[in-house]
Amino acid sequence: MWTQEQLMAEAVGGRVSQRFGDRQGLEHFTPAELHAGAKQVLARPQAAEVSPAGRALGARLLAAQWTLLLESLDLPAAPQVLELCAGSSDPVVVALDALFGSQASYVTVNLNQRLAAELEARLRGLSLQWRIIPDDAQNLAEHFAEASFDCVCFHHAVNDILQTAVAARHGYDTRDIDWWPNEQMMIEWLGEQHAADGLASVGLPELRRILEEAARVVRPGGTLCFDHWTWAYHLTLDWFPGDLFNAMIPLAREVALGLSVPLEEVTPPGLDRQWWMVLRKP
Ligand SMILES: C[S@@+](CC[C@H](N)C(=O)[O-])C[C@H]1O[C@@H](n2cnc3c(N)ncnc32)[C@H](O)[C@@H]1O
Repeated sequence: MWTQEQLMAEAVGGRVSQRFGDRQGLEHFTPAELHAGAKQVLARPQAAEVSPAGRALGARLLAAQWTLLLESLDLPAAPQVLELCAGSSDPVVVALDALFGSQASYVTVNLNQRLAAELEARLRGLSLQWRIIPDDAQNLAEHFAEASFDCVCFHHAVNDILQTAVAARHGYDTRDIDWWPNEQMMIEWLGEQHAADGLASVGLPELRRILEEAARVVRPGGTLCFDHWTWAYHLTLDWFPGDLFNAMIPLAREVALGLSVPLEEVTPPGLDRQWWMVLRKP
């Protein structure tokens, strides 16, 4: 699907690079440092030790991956794209801006207000048209008619859906929390629930509802795109449910291919199906 060189061409000096202020933040690294850093952040699981050059490249390379993936999908010239659970992360919006500029219409449905405010600040610096809907993605039917979108994106979002569902069962309202200091607690609850019943009573029902709704709002011929990865460092921690996090995309695949709306997998050759999945609605 892509080589490290193609991703670097986008991330440093290419379409993606322009959305990060060109070489801003990369000025002090040699080509060899950038090459080694890119290798670290592109490894899956992501390397435990990431150099300063790798850290500086991380968001750029993610956006480059989404740019090349979305470019391969033959989207219309003015695509309508929905992203679920974006939080404050920008690879999908940067990719859409790089590919379509003001022709792209982007909507995200996102619960956490603080992260949504950070995303809004990022969106204000880009050209694409955008809207942030502060709601639970389980309620997509209240916002969108069937076949409203060309593409629905889940960037590292399957774990967020599961974590939020299990946290709600604990009575924890995630709409106005400071996400990052509380994330370990949510992941521990998720791990406990996974050990107790494989997420059958909470987690999987919410994921199924959201995927069912996402499949309904995408048009025939449209796609659902997913990515996920783990950090090698997290896999060493005793509280971190590594088996579950390493299998996030296979888990989503099992749910998605059993929905009432039939979907077919069209993940481009060369993408690792443990970490990526593209589904098409026939
Ligand atoms: C930590 S952010 C992660 C953003 C992005 N997916 C990433 O990993 O880079 C998680 C976001 O997903 C949102 N989220 C989780 N479950 C959700 C749901 N059912 N409906 C809407 N937003 C949800 C949270 O509110 C939060 O804003």
